[in-house]
Amino acid sequence: MIDSFGRRISYVRLSVTDRCDLRCRYCMAEDMTFLPRTDLLTFEEIADLSDLLIARGVKRIRLTGGEPLVRKGIEQLVRMLGARLGSGLEELTLTTNGTQLDRFAGQLADAGVRRINVSLDSLDPDRFRHITRRGDLSKVLAGIDVASGAGLKVKINMVALRNLNEDEIPAMLRWCSDRGHDLTLIETMPLGEVEEDRTDHYLPLTEVRTRIEESFTLIPSLARTGGPARYFDVAELGVRLGLITPLTNNFCEGCNRIRISASGTVYGCLGHDQKVELRDLLRSGGMPAVDAALDRLLAGKPKRHEFAISAAKPAVARHMSVTGG
Ligand SMILES: C[S@@+](CC[C@H](N)C(=O)[O-])C[C@H]1O[C@@H](n2cnc3c(N)ncnc32)[C@H](O)[C@@H]1O
Ligand code: SF4
Repeated sequence: MIDSFGRRISYVRLSVTDRCDLRCRYCMAEDMTFLPRTDLLTFEEIADLSDLLIARGVKRIRLTGGEPLVRKGIEQLVRMLGARLGSGLEELTLTTNGTQLDRFAGQLADAGVRRINVSLDSLDPDRFRHITRRGDLSKVLAGIDVASGAGLKVKINMVALRNLNEDEIPAMLRWCSDRGHDLTLIETMPLGEVEEDRTDHYLPLTEVRTRIEESFTLIPSLARTGGPARYFDVAELGVRLGLITPLTNNFCEGCNRIRISASGTVYGCLGHDQKVELRDLLRSGGMPAVDAALDRLLAGKPKRHEFAISAAKPAVARHMSVTGG
């Protein structure tokens, strides 16, 4: 799959549900209406679509949500997709809030998952509950330990929030270093309908980086993933630090990804509404129609995205976030 700017698409972020057991303040409103189950792609439809994408050159699939581990039977889907590893698919990964990891980590590892991203915005139980509006930190930390014990490499994703967790970033770096996790910091972005004014908590990572560099040496790494992260090695800690600044578009040139919502809408770009709907085609038109729709998506995949921090209306659905969906 090559788009009109010559970019090869090899990475798919696949949302398996819009539901979540948390309500992080920057992501969801307290009161959410979720899609009816019949609107979601079934596991068979996801597997068929994945086969087509793999045949067209997709090498990595990341499952996300909402919270992927709250989709009923998720372990079956992971097993189904894991069976494609080694036959074109090189990596199956997952981004999770970690609340169910104690239950599922072993099954993820057994299915061939090797690395997961776990979102963790605070190591303080009260703050964690405040940011997520309901989360139990001890459960997430226990889940991370079970995942590490099962052999999964864990990367922590932390959304940097002014006045909420900005003072915890050095402690999070040290905590990750002690446990062998890498850390990625994410700038908040204007996605999803939330009740709060997100600009209150907007914290530019340029500022965060300057502050980190007061205590640590950051050595720029050449590693690029085709995604929005820039990586650094933290010399004193032996941790890799990723900085995701979705509001800048300096990573668009190497963009290698598309995003698929739980109901089968495929987005060519995080910051545009350019999309094709695959669910009805999967249900009625069959694979040639899906193939043709993907061609249309690639032909129209935007060159770059534009965001404004004050954007009132999200450009794409809330579960299509920069790291997770
Ligand atoms: C939408 S979640 C989906 C997967 C899973 N529920 C989780 O939290 O990891 C994926 C990632 O997007 C991040 N995220 C959600 N809303 C965001 C926003 N408005 N700005 C920046 N990152 C956001 C979350 O912190 C999380 O790391
Ligand atoms: S960031 Fe993840 S855990 Fe938090 S509300 Fe959004 S989907 Fe749920």
